This record gives sequence, C-alpha cells and structure tokens, in this order.
Amino acid sequence: MWDFGIENGVVMTARAIYEANIYGSGGTIGAITTKRQPASTVIDAAGLVVLPGMIDAHVHSRDPGFPDKEDFFHSTRAAAAGGVTTILEMPNSVPAVMDAEALRKRRAYLADRAYVDYGLWGLALATTTSAEFQAMVEEGACGFKFFWGYALDPRTFELVYNPAPGADLLDPPSDGQVLEIFQRVAQTGRVLAVHAENQSVIGTLSRYADKLGYDALVQSRPELTEIMAIHAAIDLAEHTGARLHIVHLGAAEGARIVHAAAERGVQATCETCPQYLTLSDRDYARVGTPMKVYPPIRSEANRQGLVMALKEGLIRLIASDHAPHTAASKKGPLDQIPAGIAGVETLFRLILDMALRGDLELGQVVRYMSEEPARLFGLYPQKGAILPGADADMVLVDLDGSWTVSADKLHSLNPLNPWEGQTLKGDIRATVLRGRVIFQDGSIVGSPGGCFVAPSNGQSSRALISSGSIQEQS
Ligand code: DOR
Ligand code: ZN
Repeated sequence: MWDFGIENGVVMTARAIYEANIYGSGGTIGAITTKRQPASTVIDAAGLVVLPGMIDAHVHSRDPGFPDKEDFFHSTRAAAAGGVTTILEMPNSVPAVMDAEALRKRRAYLADRAYVDYGLWGLALATTTSAEFQAMVEEGACGFKFFWGYALDPRTFELVYNPAPGADLLDPPSDGQVLEIFQRVAQTGRVLAVHAENQSVIGTLSRYADKLGYDALVQSRPELTEIMAIHAAIDLAEHTGARLHIVHLGAAEGARIVHAAAERGVQATCETCPQYLTLSDRDYARVGTPMKVYPPIRSEANRQGLVMALKEGLIRLIASDHAPHTAASKKGPLDQIPAGIAGVETLFRLILDMALRGDLELGQVVRYMSEEPARLFGLYPQKGAILPGADADMVLVDLDGSWTVSADKLHSLNPLNPWEGQTLKGDIRATVLRGRVIFQDGSIVGSPGGCFVAPSNGQSSRALISSGSIQEQS
C-alpha cells in the first residue's frame, strides 16, 4: 500500500507527455504506471496535467531582516500557491549570509517557517576568503551571489537602491578583487551568480538623466550597463573556470553573448524573469512605480528579443527575483523608491500563460523552471523530475482554467505587483510537496513542512534538520 497516489492525470515533463498514475511513500515517487494501485490518500487528477514542482532559484524573503517587507512564512506560502515547491533564497538578510556561521544560523531559523523546500545562497564579497567559501559549501550553500553593480551598506551589506552622491557606501570591488572572487568560488565548484550591472556607468549616466520620469531610469541603466558587466564576467569565468550564472537578465543581447560563450566551452548560463518577458517601458503609464526593478524593464523590442532568446533555448532558466517592498515605500519619486517586485507566486502562472498563448512550448516551461534549475544547482533528480526515486513534488494544472492576478488573493506579505488585474490562461489546482498536498483549490493546506536542500555532486541527497543535527538522506 502506497502513502499517496495521483491518479488519471497527464504527466508532462520537459521531454514527454503520457497518461499515468503516480504512487509513492516516504515523500518520494515509487511507481509511475497505467495500472491502479492501492494508496492511503488519492488525488484525482482527471482532466489535469501533472508537472514536476517548479524551482524558483531567485527569491529574496529578507528573513531575518525586513519584517515589514517579507518573511519566510509568507514567501513560502506564496511559492506553494504558485506551484513552486523549492526556492533558493538570496543571502541579503540581516545579518547577511557571508560566512558559515550565518548560513548555519539562518538555516536553523528558517526550518520551521518553510512551506516549501529551500536552499540558501551565500554572499560573495571581496573580503570572503577561500576557507570561508569552502565552509559555506560544507554548510550546504547552493552557490554564491555577487552583487556586482549594486551599492552596498558598508556595515550591514544591505542593498542601497538610490545611492546619493557622497553617501557612505562599500567601495565597489576593484577588477583584481573581482578576479579573486571568481578564483575562490571556482575552487568550490559551486555556481557564482552575478548581478551584472556596471555601477560606474550607471553613476555617470544618472548625472545626465532627467530625474523625473521612467525614461530617466532606463536612460541611466541602458542595456550597455548589463552587457559590459556580462562580457567582463564571461572573461573572468573563462580565465578562472568559475561556473558563472547571470541572474535576472534584462538585456536581450546578453542572452546571445552568454550562449556564445557557453558554445565555446565557458561555463556560463543565464536566467530571466517574468517581468522582463511580459512588460515593457510602455506599461509604465498604466502600472506606475510597482514596475521599478533593477535591472529595469526596457523597450518592447528588448522584451521581444528576450522572448525570442527563450524560445531558441539561449536562456537556461526563469526565476522570479521575488523582492517585495511595502506599498508605502513604493510610492514616491522614482529616483527615491526601492527597486524590486513581488513575484514568486505569479512566476509559474505568468510563464504558463505565455505558453498557453503560444509564446513558448509547455515542455520548455518545465525545462526552464524545474529541470534546468535542478540540474544547475545539483538537485537533479531529487528535484526537477517525475521519476521513481525523485521527491514527489508536483503541480497539478488545469490548462483550460484561468486565474486573475489580484493582490488580495496573493500570499506575500506585500503583494503589490505589476500584473494586477490581468487574467492568465491556465490554473493551478494543487501543489504537492514530497507527496503531501500543500495547496489546493485556492487554499494553503497544512503547516510548514519544507526541508533544507543542498547540492550534491550528481547524487540525490537531502539534508534534513532534526533537533539541530543534520542527517544526509539518499
Ligand atoms: O530590483 C531589485 N531588487 N533587484 C535586485 O537585484 C535586488 C532586489 C531587492 O532585493 O530588493
Ligand atoms: Zn535578486
């Protein structure tokens, strides 16, 4: 007798579509079969497609740190409601995850607040030593994030969104220091995720830009700011062997540059986000300040270029860059409000809508949002797969349904978003985490049961925290 069964659904992976019943016990998939087998709990998926749970590799839950903006309780409920069963959490909490001790503490702190499984990024600073990077790897860091082009507070390492001339900021690392970051992360074998914007160019252009409108924001952060940083990052990755991952790509040209580098053997990948695929500067008049994000949302031609790059397979994954701010702080002059959009709950729904409108294949949705992130971060096939032995993480979708974005239905603490009121094709009927339903028919089910996940070198393993001790499970 199996613990659970998902019967009568159509299973859809990156490569295949077939009718099957899925059974399992102990949180993992045990059988995928056209036959009926006995199970204690059965979900009827008739008329639904069953996809592997989505992985959002880019989430800022800001916990601990900014309890008025977001916390793990809310962000992981939002994830569950959005078909996301694993998030990789960014290191800009307070304290920032800049050493093994901070990572260990944060992991323990988040353990009973997680509705979905989660991994943790470590922060890469010019001062981080090789030993510290290695110690963070041993604590299970999924990779390292380098905020290149972001002004940081010198004490807390918080992001400074609108640096005033003469403000007390952490000096941007020199090229030599950036080289050291690449070298040190290369030694760990983990991914180096780079926020690729050239801060010096932004600083110069900001002095010229007319301060008032959305155009000024785009003029001070044109595609060039990303392209320059991407080129430099690729050169450094090529030289050091670091596994470079360009996060939240906003400039379409960047996808071709990263892809060309990968073709000649550089370990380089990139991700983009729904905000860059679904919005352009034309939307600012309608949407207003909730649209402010770094890098900025640019022209319609650039948006189309990103969609094309995605279709062609030049972009490896799609993540949300979930980065909520309070509604009050998002009101005000564009050059004074913070950048960031709440997006973990709408991530999969927006991309599913793109697919159902014909902009993308459904198999590509699964590839870019489940299989590829699992592979890139060493979680495959524990995550990102519907296979015997994999974690039973799934999302059950009604392709004929629809869903309207509305802040009062969203689960984030600050659900302000630029898609408010839009009706999207497709609907999530249930989200399943390790065989347990965590979201069904519009409601979160049960209490937090998410586990910490860490990369393994190709093997499936999960580090579970139980009463403070770590057990590796195969
Ligand atoms: O707009 C952004 N906001 N871009 C980032 O890279 C970080 C994020 C945040 O944490 O607020
Ligand atoms: Zn981010």
